[in-house]
Amino acid sequence: MEVAVRTLAGGGLVAIPTETVYGLGAAINSDIAIAKIFAVKGRPQDHPLIVHIADIEQLQFVASSIPLDALKIAHACWPGPITLLLQRGDQVPTTVTGGRETVAVRIPDNAFTRQLITKLGSPIVAPSANRFGKVSPTNAQHVCDDLQGDVDLIVDDGACSIGVESTIIDFSVSPPQLLRPGGIPIEDIEHILGFAIGSSDGVSRASGMLQSHYRPQCQVVLVENDEEAAGLTARLTPQQLPSRVLNRCENLPNYASSLYNDLRQADDDNIQTLIAVLPSNTGLGAAIIDRLVKAAAPI
Ligand code: TXA
Ligand code: MG
Repeated sequence: MEVAVRTLAGGGLVAIPTETVYGLGAAINSDIAIAKIFAVKGRPQDHPLIVHIADIEQLQFVASSIPLDALKIAHACWPGPITLLLQRGDQVPTTVTGGRETVAVRIPDNAFTRQLITKLGSPIVAPSANRFGKVSPTNAQHVCDDLQGDVDLIVDDGACSIGVESTIIDFSVSPPQLLRPGGIPIEDIEHILGFAIGSSDGVSRASGMLQSHYRPQCQVVLVENDEEAAGLTARLTPQQLPSRVLNRCENLPNYASSLYNDLRQADDDNIQTLIAVLPSNTGLGAAIIDRLVKAAAPI
């Protein structure tokens, strides 16, 4: 903990555990460290970062106004895998928000990381700790495989329990819009709010909304069920082999928490074609489908 605090305070990068995926963290007030995040990730400058805070009191320093509905979700779901998009507060540099007047913020459900933010005395900005466009890391080894040498410290707190990124809801518009399906199902949020969330208006407003993202090396092909997977497997050419079928539809939390590891494992095992069976589009299924569709998209 002390080394992590010192590293961040000194303008270094620390890979931090969260319940969704590992983040590549920097102190929000370190311009140097923020610039390093973009350089290390190979991330375009206009792709904003999520601000991680330790408690709801810190929200007032990050956002200039907090709609009541946003506050309701914050109280009900934090710490947890949901990110709120709000009007940017003065203390948030525009390098963090990609030049926008909105800011994305959440309280992660990881005790070490929350304590780190508290001891540092300022929020930590962090994108997922992977190179831009690649598969997100859900354990410390994944971070090590991707970023070793480019990150000052990796905090190993085991595997992420949720395994897909946070749900992002834009509360800077009315009605609120879903920017990215994630760890908290949209149905749960609508239930708390008592009304329906709009879908995003089609513009690529979040980098995770690009068509191709979360991509492994192997070709990912999507099918509806096991029969289709078997039929496709039988038709593969020798160049498309070896192949593997991915189907964890009977247990969606398990599908989500294993997904990025499954994609990485396929590459480690030199699989050429990964045939993934799509879950139904409810609950966590929406986030799993979103990531699989992006993993399968042409570059
Ligand atoms: O679960 C998570 O959200 C993880 C952990 C580390 O917290 N973080 C994560 O960060 O997924 P990243 O950078 O991979 O994705 C953040 C997404 C991006 O798609 C980014 O464009 C969007 O949030 N975002 C952040 N600030 C935004 C803003 N002001 N307006 C629109 N989108 C924003
Ligand atoms: Mg990411």
